[in-house]
Amino acid sequence: MNRKNNRGMKLLHAGMGLGMKAINIPRPVLFEGPGSSARLSEILEKEGRTRPLLVTSPGTVKWEYFQKIMESLLQNKLEPVVFSSVGSDPTTGIVKEIVGRYRDEECDCMVAIGGGSPMDAMKGAAALTARPGKDLGSMQGLLKVGKKTPLMIAVPTTAGTGSECTIAAVITDETRDYKYAISDLSLCPKYAILDGSLTVSLPAGITAMTGMDALTHAVEAYLNTPYHKGDTRELCESAVSKIFRYLEKACREPDDIGVRQNMLKASFEAGEAFTVACVGNVHAIGHGIGGIYHKPHGLCMAVLVPIVLLDYGQAAYKNLAKLAIRSGVLENDGSGERTMALRFIDKIRDLNNSVGIEPYFDDLDRNDFDEIAKRAVKEAVPLYPTPVTYSEDDVKRVLTLAMGE
Ligand SMILES: [Fe+2]
Repeated sequence: MNRKNNRGMKLLHAGMGLGMKAINIPRPVLFEGPGSSARLSEILEKEGRTRPLLVTSPGTVKWEYFQKIMESLLQNKLEPVVFSSVGSDPTTGIVKEIVGRYRDEECDCMVAIGGGSPMDAMKGAAALTARPGKDLGSMQGLLKVGKKTPLMIAVPTTAGTGSECTIAAVITDETRDYKYAISDLSLCPKYAILDGSLTVSLPAGITAMTGMDALTHAVEAYLNTPYHKGDTRELCESAVSKIFRYLEKACREPDDIGVRQNMLKASFEAGEAFTVACVGNVHAIGHGIGGIYHKPHGLCMAVLVPIVLLDYGQAAYKNLAKLAIRSGVLENDGSGERTMALRFIDKIRDLNNSVGIEPYFDDLDRNDFDEIAKRAVKEAVPLYPTPVTYSEDDVKRVLTLAMGE
């Protein structure tokens, strides 16, 4: 995109930012702290619900904490129904299965227990339950659901996606290996429970990747200044501060519940920030790569984030330097915005390295670049108010850099 068009895009984003500021984005009621998942029964009773559909994954149901949650619900005379078939990258097909189960079992609310996939699957199912006559894919984009969804409660067991507090659900159309986001105010769960003790069993690799996803949410939201309102900036700074302080430790000392609790909170803060300010080109490109190569979302984020930030150049220096200093990642030594921004990007690379994430992808196929670029630009333009608006050629340049070339 040439400079003139980029100026036009900035004006458009300023206008869209005014519109975004007028929208009252919901926030979930938060329960937090080790052991807080035991309060699920209390929430359901308060809401007068007796038959929750627990949306989860085959792995999660085997954990002791899941059994404890089930026992607590049964002891409180509730009648949970379990749907445990959600794998990574929830598909349109899985979402339809959840909707069928919800209706057949006559459930009265939905509870997601798991990482981003069960939470997004629950939200997709809630959208389809609200709009039964609609095709899920046709709700892609912003504010296409527009109807009351079933009561949703999110209990994250990974610290990264932030889906417990966002208005977005990322769904995969399995017929085209295509990931798309449905964003609607009605998709924000009414309650979120952040219980650090549920994440201690998470393997180091997943902890690392999901943590880098949260970092990417915070950094991309921070750079999208036209959409900022209220405490967006502070949420990003707080999340970045915690992630730099705790992510490596969470990988090294997985049983430290205090560290885990801080990572969950960081993920939540980053989620609240990007639900207002949106994400950026790292996500737009990462969704394309993740959809085609079935790579974990957090891994795509981790590899792409330093590459894209460096590629933004001058347009991002000021805010990256500010973020680095205000989050406490770097001390202001007076070396100037450019130097501070570049050092911050180096710090992100160092963090990747310290948690065992490789700096490049070794299996991208150039034949896929046109398709990834097309999808990325479709996702990001004009919605995301990124420091630089990418053209398809820009995306292809980043993809080449992501191969280490
Ligand atoms: Fe993400």
